[in-house]
Amino acid sequence: MENATQRSVLTEEERALVTEALNALKAKPGALLPVLHFIQRKLSYVPPAAVSLIAQGLNLSNADVHGVISFYHEFRHQAPGGHVIQICRAESCQSMGSRALEKHACSRLGIGFHETTKDNNFTLEPVYCLGNCMYSPCVRVGDEIYGEMNDEEFDNLVNSLLTQVIEVKAP
Ligand code: FES
Repeated sequence: MENATQRSVLTEEERALVTEALNALKAKPGALLPVLHFIQRKLSYVPPAAVSLIAQGLNLSNADVHGVISFYHEFRHQAPGGHVIQICRAESCQSMGSRALEKHACSRLGIGFHETTKDNNFTLEPVYCLGNCMYSPCVRVGDEIYGEMNDEEFDNLVNSLLTQVIEVKAP
């Protein structure tokens, strides 16, 4: 079955949302970034099939839009898993061991950055400073920031998130 990344046509809901973003923001100077943020906030990603509609709406080329989406790592090209785990890679966290934590996280989840586990529970992403450097290394899940992370704490976090997923899915 075709996934969202391969689809060349937007669903009706996606098209309506992109149109809403364009109508609300196209008059602003430098509207492209606000439009992309709007779409990602609502859908959790920017569907590749939206590129030409955005380009038309803002009088840009498809390459312009694609270039900006590719340049900013925060824009996702496909829907993420149930929990997005972000590991800080900025200087303070690196100096306090975030590279080793990344390695552990990749091995624990069986995925690399920008990938989603097969069960769709987790997506792993890099992030660059969460403003919590005093408690490096840091991890963010949703709006929660977890400081002074180590391998064991990471495993505990994953296990507690898995429990949440099970609770949500239980009838
Ligand atoms: S460097 Fe990681 S929170 Fe600032």
